[in-house]
Amino acid sequence: MCGIVGYVGAKDCSEVLVSALRKLEYRGYDSAGIAVFENDKIRIAKEKGRLDDLQKRMDAEGVPCGHIGVGHTRWATHGVPSAVNSHPHRGGKNVTLVHNGIIENYKELKETLKDLGRTFVSETDTEVVAQLMDFNYMGDPVQAIARTLSVVEGSFALGILFADRPGELYAVRRESPLIVGVAEGESFIASDVPAIIKYTTQYYLLEHDEIAKLTFDGVSFCDLEGNSIEKELKVADWDQEAAEKGGYEHYMLKEIHEQPTAVKTTITPRISDGVPNLEECSITPERLSDINQIYIVACGTAMHAGMIGKYVIEKLCKVPVIVDIASEFRYRDPLIKEGDLVVIISQSGETADSLAAMRLAKKMGAQTLAIVNAKGSSIAREADMLIYTHAGPEIAVASTKAYMVQISVMYLLAFEMAYSKGLISEEECRRLTSELVGTSDKIEMTIGLVEPACKVFAQELTEAENLLYIGRGLDYALSMEGSLKLKEISYIHSEAYAAGELKHGTISLITEGMPVIAVATQNSLLDKTISNIKEVKARGAKVLIVCDDEAQISDDVADAVIRVPKIEECLMPMLAAVPLQLLAYYASVLRGNDVDKPRNLAKSVTVE
Ligand code: G6P
Repeated sequence: MCGIVGYVGAKDCSEVLVSALRKLEYRGYDSAGIAVFENDKIRIAKEKGRLDDLQKRMDAEGVPCGHIGVGHTRWATHGVPSAVNSHPHRGGKNVTLVHNGIIENYKELKETLKDLGRTFVSETDTEVVAQLMDFNYMGDPVQAIARTLSVVEGSFALGILFADRPGELYAVRRESPLIVGVAEGESFIASDVPAIIKYTTQYYLLEHDEIAKLTFDGVSFCDLEGNSIEKELKVADWDQEAAEKGGYEHYMLKEIHEQPTAVKTTITPRISDGVPNLEECSITPERLSDINQIYIVACGTAMHAGMIGKYVIEKLCKVPVIVDIASEFRYRDPLIKEGDLVVIISQSGETADSLAAMRLAKKMGAQTLAIVNAKGSSIAREADMLIYTHAGPEIAVASTKAYMVQISVMYLLAFEMAYSKGLISEEECRRLTSELVGTSDKIEMTIGLVEPACKVFAQELTEAENLLYIGRGLDYALSMEGSLKLKEISYIHSEAYAAGELKHGTISLITEGMPVIAVATQNSLLDKTISNIKEVKARGAKVLIVCDDEAQISDDVADAVIRVPKIEECLMPMLAAVPLQLLAYYASVLRGNDVDKPRNLAKSVTVE
């Protein structure tokens, strides 16, 4: 995720910007840059790679020298990581800016600006905002910002310099976060508190569509009409480590809360004109409609994301999907035929078994599609086709936001493939895509709704030795991930079972008081799942049902019910995953475990 910083004050601006950007490195990035007013002229330095690469470039070419400027670390979404796509971006002769977020209508805006004679050097959505801001600039920065914001759509935080105003730095945001730090004789902007905590603990939280103006005399705020705003000064009482966790007790909890943004950032660039468009990832509708057999190969949580993909793709696209554990696939002589599609899902892009499975599939003549979070990783580099998920860095070993974006890509793929094959109409494809877009807000809502209940029910889990997760269809696929999450971090033994299969053996394990978590979000299967729940309840199980907020559940069926908002049935795993993640999280916390670094596990498994 991109990081923004800005500085106005007596210190060496370049040094402050780079040091502040280092504190945002945890957000992940693939290039970096700064812009500084040097003798009243804006000088830009930017480079692909790490901040050390930027520093080397500046050491070689001369470090911009001044006291006011902006800086940026970029996590590529529109256009490859490269110096030219890095921020800051210039727009015409007046504007230089940095941006965090996504401009959803940048393609339309770019066309209009091109018609007006504007030329572009990068592939980014950010340069479009810079050009537009420059076009709107008639000498009044607030007016230029307001005019620009009246047409751009999406989420963004901007740090802006106007060439003819060497003593001023402007900032504005919509959705993407931005804070304004203040100290004696100096001020800052930043995407997050860790960037400035070395310099000050005092800051203002910029709200949607508020403009901040930073000068050597201090900071002021106004709305888009220019009316001044009084804001409450906040004081961060975090140490450096807490600041990097954004105030959350653990990275896992922070990452659960980052899911709405991660989903939005992952799917928005892949939708055009209301339907999925994966052509930028070399996936054309023709290519998709030709596929007769799909293998999804992955490990751990990523494999569970593949299970969701199987149910959705088979249902919508009528193409058989085999989900394989990578370490099994590679040694079992899979029956791959030329032209089969092998999808490799991986957060790290470096998992040894997944990488080996992909190489084997290629050797056997399959087309390979990688769905990867880590930019430039081995799996990403070697695949024939590539869809990057944009979850940002995931630090907790237990994967949450990476899973969420992996399944969001499964949906994109399924919707586009079904549409390409003529199995759903354009209207249906638009409807499903719009429901998928809506999940971002609904995930946010779900977190708020279910977190208190998860804390309470987690208490019950901590006393258990064993438990079961049950569900049917997509609920079964999701149960697998729920069970893994709990095992990984709470060390409580659990299994996920297809609810209808229990009676063939596993039900003998049910004893008085044993917790059973039943996922029952698939309305079409609800009655069947309820019958299975009754079977375990009758044998003494303590049942927690996770269902939608309209499901009819009678009191005698469940000991507790956690409800999530009802959305399109096939998309329900995106909301129902949240309580399962939070239950595991709180069970781990209550057991006093090291939540982010569970015993015996590694985040990236690069050995067999
Ligand atoms: C490790 C991690 C899991 C992850 C799995 C696959 O076991 O602990 O959280 O799901 O590897 O990792 P990948 O990076 O390929 O998604």
